[in-house]
Formats: sequence, structure tokens, C-alpha cells
Amino acid sequence: MARINDHYLKLQAGYLFPEISRRINEFTSANPEAAVIRLGIGDVTEPLPPVILKAFHDGVDEQANSASFHGYGPEQGYQWLSEIIIDKAYKPLGVDLKASEVFISDGSKCDCANILDIFALDNVVAIGDPVYPVYNDTNVMVGRTGEADDKGYYQGIVYMPFTAENNFMPALPTEKVDIIYLCFPNNPTGTVASKTELKKWVDYALANDAIIFFDAAYEAFITEADIPHSIYEVEGAEKCAIEFRSFSKTAGFTGIRCALTVVPEALMGTTEAGEKYSFNQLWNRRQCTKFNGVSYPVQKAAAAVYSDEGWEQTKTIIDFYMENARIIREGLTAAGITCYGGVNAPYIWLQTPEGMSSWEFFDKLLNECHVVGTPGSGFGPSGEGYFRLSAFGNRKNVETAVERIKEKWGK
Ligand code: MLT
Repeated sequence: MARINDHYLKLQAGYLFPEISRRINEFTSANPEAAVIRLGIGDVTEPLPPVILKAFHDGVDEQANSASFHGYGPEQGYQWLSEIIIDKAYKPLGVDLKASEVFISDGSKCDCANILDIFALDNVVAIGDPVYPVYNDTNVMVGRTGEADDKGYYQGIVYMPFTAENNFMPALPTEKVDIIYLCFPNNPTGTVASKTELKKWVDYALANDAIIFFDAAYEAFITEADIPHSIYEVEGAEKCAIEFRSFSKTAGFTGIRCALTVVPEALMGTTEAGEKYSFNQLWNRRQCTKFNGVSYPVQKAAAAVYSDEGWEQTKTIIDFYMENARIIREGLTAAGITCYGGVNAPYIWLQTPEGMSSWEFFDKLLNECHVVGTPGSGFGPSGEGYFRLSAFGNRKNVETAVERIKEKWGK
């Protein structure tokens, strides 16, 4: 009989979001009349803006005749899309990239997971706590860790607590680590890093030959000036950082799938023999072998996001979600609930009322207010006692959810 990958058995429960769906389904089967408001998983609700939808349709129509038909595209994505992204999303930040450093893909979740292919197993990894569970679980799956302890920390991973006490900015690791995951604006806490703070991480990585995996999936939601949108705004980051970006939340592509990963040519690792080797070349090799690119109509739609009209329409939706975030944050704060995030990110991280555990609050909120959020402890032990609400709902639902929470727990 074929052997399974035993590392999967070290994973604790099911993946967080399917577990939440399971509890919602259980509740709605028992209470079919309940109007449940879902502010759990960060999934967009607004339709695609017209300019982007048109580009998407045009891309499909081009497949209808042989002159404009597209078969396999480049595994790295069409160069015209990479160039548009560089021009519109990076140049204005003062970041200069080459098209060969931008890899278009079908999602940041997959890229964050797949990137581990090109790193040796004995690299020591540092991960936030709480954190987007994919970073943790994929390291367990590839066999980089031992078992989890009682709290849920895996042996072999260095955990960096993101807590209210440290202002959601952990201290630099005291032990030597090789890979550091950073996500800003942060999922789940919705907090951000200033350029000075990011510089500390870049300086640490450069001094310790470490690589930063920088997840910038939520950069489009930054509203305050001076908050960096890319790690490459920090000098030297091209020598120590890989950046993940996504069209999912930025442009409503959660169901359409398009993202990008930047692997600079200056980024080097070492072979077992101690020679320098380019991560850009390795990632290119990996993608050429294991990936066949994103569909042509999707890339056409992604390119339209950065047209003048496309960006205007996209920005209107981003502003709409950030107004939702404001309504949640200010509404709950006025009700005496301590909230973080929600200013530069579409997530509000709140302290559970009455000292409830995260899952206790989840169940109470679902059963008594018919509102779904995400329990903080699902993102890691330091998330216990916290809860995440997403701002991606429609306005009426967001307002109703806030009202219901205020009625129940408002002071
Ligand atoms: C979240 O809710 O944390 C995200 O939507 C999950 C994801 O992007 O995969």
C-alpha cells in the first residue's frame, strides 16, 4: 500500500475556514429562517466593475476565432501584464522592477505555499502569531516541523507574537532564522508597519542572510500616507525579500484568480556546497514545470484594473469596503468593545466581550445575533480572546451586524 505524507497528520484540526463553514451549515440547517450575516472569511461581495468585466468578456471573445485565439500562455504570465503592474503599481512607489522579476499566478495562497519548493527543509522559519494559517500549515505539510505542543505551537518554528502589548509589532528574532513571514497590512489584526519598522526587518534579514516573505495582499486598502505599500520601498529589500500581491481583495478576483509574486534577480541563496544561487531562476524553473499560467481572459481583466477608468472603478469599491470598516470599528468602539485595525485594512480585530474565548464568542454571535466572524484563536494561540470581522460585506449587512452586536454587548 502506498505511504501517505505523515506530516499531514501533525496538522491540528481542519483548515480554519472550512471549520467555520461547517458550524454555519449546522446552525442554518437547524435554523433555516435565520438571516445569517457573514463577516468571516475575507471574501469580496461587490460585483466586478464594468471596465474590468468588459476586458474579461473581450478576452473570452478573442478565443472565438483563430486569428485572436490564445493557447498556452507563458508560465510566468504575459509580459504585457507584468509591465503594466510594474508601471502602475510599483513605479509610483519609486520601485524599479524588471518584467522577469514578476510572476503572474492564480493566487497568493498558492504562491505562499508553493514558494517552499525552492527552499531547503533545514531553513529555520519565523512566523507571526496570530497569522494567516497557510504560512504555518504549509510548513507542517512539507515536513519542516515536529509535532504541535499543547498550545498549538509546532516544534521547529519560531513564533513571533503580534499582540496589543507589543503594538502588533514583534521584536526581531533572538535566534538565527532563515525565512521570515511578514504580512502588512496584517491579516488577521488589520494593523500596519511604518517604513522605519519595515527597515528594521530588512536590515535584520540583510545582516543574517535571511529571506523575508512579504505578503502585501491588502496593500490597496492602505488609507494613511507614509505607510509602505511594498517592502521594496525599503532600501536593500530586493536582496532579501519576495513579495506576494493579489488581485483577489484589491479588485474582486477571489473567484476569478489572479495574483503576482515578485522574486528579484538580486535575491540569492546558497547551495549545499555553499555557492550562491538565484531564487529567481529557481522559481522560474519551478513555475515552468508545475504551472501553466493564468488564463488569458483573466489576465486581460487584471490588466484592465490598472487602466485609468478601471482603477477609478476599483478604487470606488475599495473605498466602499473601507467605509464598512469604519462603520464596524467606530460602532463597536462606541459600544465599549476594544478594536484594532480597520483603518488601513479591511479587517477589524476586536477583543471578545466579557473575557469570552474566541470560539465561545463565535458560537454566541452566531446563535444569538446570527452574525459570523472568525475566531482569533484560529489564527494562532496569541489570537485567543480576539475575534476578526471582515469589512467585505454589503452595507446593509454590515450596519445590521454592528447594531446586533451593540444591542447584545454595548455598554
Ligand atoms: C481570510 O479571510 O483570511 C482570507 O480571505 C483567506 C485567503 O485569502 O485565503
